[in-house]
Amino acid sequence: MDLDPKEGAMMRSQDWYGGTGRDPFIHRAWMRRGVPDHAFDGRPQIAIANTASDLTPCNAHLNEVAEYVKQGVWEAGGVPVNLPVTSLGETLVKPTAMLWRNMAAMTIEEMLRANPIDAAVLLGGCDKTIPALLMGAASVDLPAVVVPGGPMLNGYFRGERSGCGTGVWALSEEVRAGNLSEQEFERFDKQMVRSKGHCNTMGTASTMGIMAEALGMTIPGVAGTPAPDSRLLEAAHASGRLAVELALEDRRISQVITKESFHNAIVTLAAIGGSTNAVVHLLAIAGRLGIDLTLEDFDRIGGKVPLLVNLQPSGSYLMEDLFRAGGVLAVLDQLTDLLDPAAQTVVGAPLISFLGEHPVWDRDVISLRENPLQDEAGIAVLRGNLAPRGAVIKPSAASPELLTHTGRAVVFDSIEDFHARIDDPELDVDADSVLVLRGCGPKGYPGMPEVANTPLPPKLLKQGVRDMVRISDGRMSGTAYGTVVLHVAPEAASPGSVLALVQDGDLISLDVPNRKLELLVPEEELAARKPAFREVSSFAKADRGWQKLYIEHVQGADTGADLDFLVGSSGSIVTRESH
Ligand code: FES
Ligand code: MG
Repeated sequence: MDLDPKEGAMMRSQDWYGGTGRDPFIHRAWMRRGVPDHAFDGRPQIAIANTASDLTPCNAHLNEVAEYVKQGVWEAGGVPVNLPVTSLGETLVKPTAMLWRNMAAMTIEEMLRANPIDAAVLLGGCDKTIPALLMGAASVDLPAVVVPGGPMLNGYFRGERSGCGTGVWALSEEVRAGNLSEQEFERFDKQMVRSKGHCNTMGTASTMGIMAEALGMTIPGVAGTPAPDSRLLEAAHASGRLAVELALEDRRISQVITKESFHNAIVTLAAIGGSTNAVVHLLAIAGRLGIDLTLEDFDRIGGKVPLLVNLQPSGSYLMEDLFRAGGVLAVLDQLTDLLDPAAQTVVGAPLISFLGEHPVWDRDVISLRENPLQDEAGIAVLRGNLAPRGAVIKPSAASPELLTHTGRAVVFDSIEDFHARIDDPELDVDADSVLVLRGCGPKGYPGMPEVANTPLPPKLLKQGVRDMVRISDGRMSGTAYGTVVLHVAPEAASPGSVLALVQDGDLISLDVPNRKLELLVPEEELAARKPAFREVSSFAKADRGWQKLYIEHVQGADTGADLDFLVGSSGSIVTRESH
């Protein structure tokens, strides 16, 4: 490989290692420990921003992936450095991993900037890790490439595919309905989680890996490679090589991700039936890059895109099947006319230049464009007096007959309030009721947890009810399903929220075809309710630490729930020395 940096460009890391004198001496001396002299001669220093952690089981295999990245970096003439960064495990971290996404992004940003790094390979997987990596790296704007850690192998229950997340939600409802014993449910765990990797449904992790590819931030074709597949290690090696090239070319994230890239991401999100959480993450990533992306863009661009991928939670199959059937490129191959031809990739060519010869090997898993699973997929953005700044619903995961529905509100002020009352046989609720769960927004919880896909009342489950309209300012796991209106903004804890004023028995009208969400209560009456509201609801408060910073600065879900002072970029320049 030609090791000459692009004309005029000197590696950023030479600010640390180049020249003579005390400071460069210090920077080199401590780094030696077996590293050869030529490591400091001006060649690219490649950080492997690595979210491997035993407490993020979905990412635990990334240390192995990092070894293959390293080999690729050395081979291409660069110097790899492993940079463990804040990791977030969706299943363990309390009160919700989303509370820490912005913190992870902030620490990733600061450590990439503070260190002698010319480009980064971003290793993520579990839900928040790829968003945090992209947000942080975007705010430094160094060259970077993503290697998504990939999904687990298929899970099965009684011989049928049962994805992690989705299977848990479905089977736990069967336990509550009295159709499945606790013992059988317990035995499901090893059948569900069979291998390394992240959730194998089209949940948030799978979605965000694919979003990274659609944004142009992976080598095309890599997203969705199962974690145990040797092709992932091959991709890691290639991405290490590519990172060296990126540093030499000085091809930065801001040159790869543009408004056009988000167009492609939204088309892809619709076609794969991706997680609603992608809306919040993509808005936040756009905010870091100063790209004007709005909620409406999701509906406008994604609303007419056909659903082609038959994966749980909306469909039948799992990520291993998607890869076998031809993968993301076989999906995008059919959508070239909907993609923006100008959108670039890290490889230095437009995304569409990688399309054209990716057949579909299993039409049950990836539908052909002329015979889609749904004609119009995507995420619907709702407005109305109940959500003046918007709310979202994933129609492909909802019950068609509930997409237009009016019902009486049954209101819960917190998830604790919900759990305390939902199993009560006396609860005044029927199949037509609308379950309203508030106090679960970014500020209110705090952290906007995935609680909006609430379980249903057992008395209705026993009658055979399996879906109801639910409305919340919280999020829903990407592995979940149901007619759930999410991300209501402004959230209940925000001044001026109408969601905060809803009372039991109020009529709520959901009209997805017309993108409406209305509380059918006269203006005057709502105005009269306002003063009483704060006393009936108690939302999160914090005196110190991250939670205090978060509550004071977090923005609404409608703009990505980033902290106000983290929006935008500070670039990669650090002017002052440490000694
Ligand atoms: Fe990690 Fe689902 S829990 S991806
Ligand atoms: Mg999740």
